[in-house]
Amino acid sequence: MMKEKLLEIKEEALKKISETNGLDKLNEIRVAYLGKKGELTQVLKGMKDVKPEDRPMVGQYVNDTRKAIEEKLEEVKTKLEEEVLNQKLKAEVIDVTLPAKKNNVGHRHPNTIALEEVERIFVGMGYEVVEGPEVEYDYYNFEALNIPENHPAKDEQDTFYVNDKILLRTQTSSVQVHEMEKGKLPIRMISPGRVFRADEVDATHSPSFHQIEGLVIDKNVTFADLKGTLAQFAKELFGEDTKVKFRPHHFPFTEPSAEVDVSCFKCHGKGCRMCKGSGWIEILGCGMVHPHVLEMSGIDPEEYTGFAFGVGLERIALLKYEIDDMRLMYENDTRFLKQF
Ligand code: DAH
Repeated sequence: MMKEKLLEIKEEALKKISETNGLDKLNEIRVAYLGKKGELTQVLKGMKDVKPEDRPMVGQYVNDTRKAIEEKLEEVKTKLEEEVLNQKLKAEVIDVTLPAKKNNVGHRHPNTIALEEVERIFVGMGYEVVEGPEVEYDYYNFEALNIPENHPAKDEQDTFYVNDKILLRTQTSSVQVHEMEKGKLPIRMISPGRVFRADEVDATHSPSFHQIEGLVIDKNVTFADLKGTLAQFAKELFGEDTKVKFRPHHFPFTEPSAEVDVSCFKCHGKGCRMCKGSGWIEILGCGMVHPHVLEMSGIDPEEYTGFAFGVGLERIALLKYEIDDMRLMYENDTRFLKQF
């Protein structure tokens, strides 16, 4: 009677276990047969009705049944676990022969590289790097720099006006005025930044480009200091054997004024395509700060003197990296930019 019941339980359990396809279901079956309220436990509770001499034998049957069910559970569990693992491995396949994903690392623009070089040179000489506003009052861009109302540099064709008094600065020279007005002397600064002019775009012009302004004001500053400073600058920028030439020129805010040429770093003065056969390349404008300009910003020209210079940043970058068209600088074609 008991034996048959046990056999029945065993067969039913083994069949259910074999048909199971999930690990959670397998656990449900374990509980249903072997758990505290499981079928086998129920049978054991009926032991008290079994005749004492039969008890060892029935006990043996119960144990055998439990063992059979446990073994089958274990077997199917292993099988199911293996299946789960295999499926996981299949789904998470990593193809180690695929090329790795590349990180595209950014790159500095040739203008930025040239600027950092210029800054390095002047900071090395004790200059401070300062910035000024791109949207500027007429006063700072023109008037305080000795460019009066009817000066041709103010012509509306060259300048982007916001209104009568406000404009986009046409030169970084405006920062000279801001620095002088602060009233802290001596001054030894460079000021890089964007400037704007109503120019048509071509190989050498753009309505927006960059300049680096320089200003030194102290007691006993002379033209010799200006020459020495710019000669050193040219050497560091273009090479130790670079010579400089000062050509007399006119700027409203300096007196005397000059344009500076450097000996061609390509042909060393013999004449080539780079220097258009002359052996010299023009790189900047400069001069001694006009006494009236000092005065307008509250500096006594009897006590203080100074020099100033203005460099076109694009011009430096084009020269240094031998780029023949300024438009390339603004197109941001990475094939171009990557070369520097
Ligand atoms: N601001 C001038 C320009 O845009 C360049 C310049 C010339 C700046 C002479 C200076 C200077 O500081 O002394 O053409």
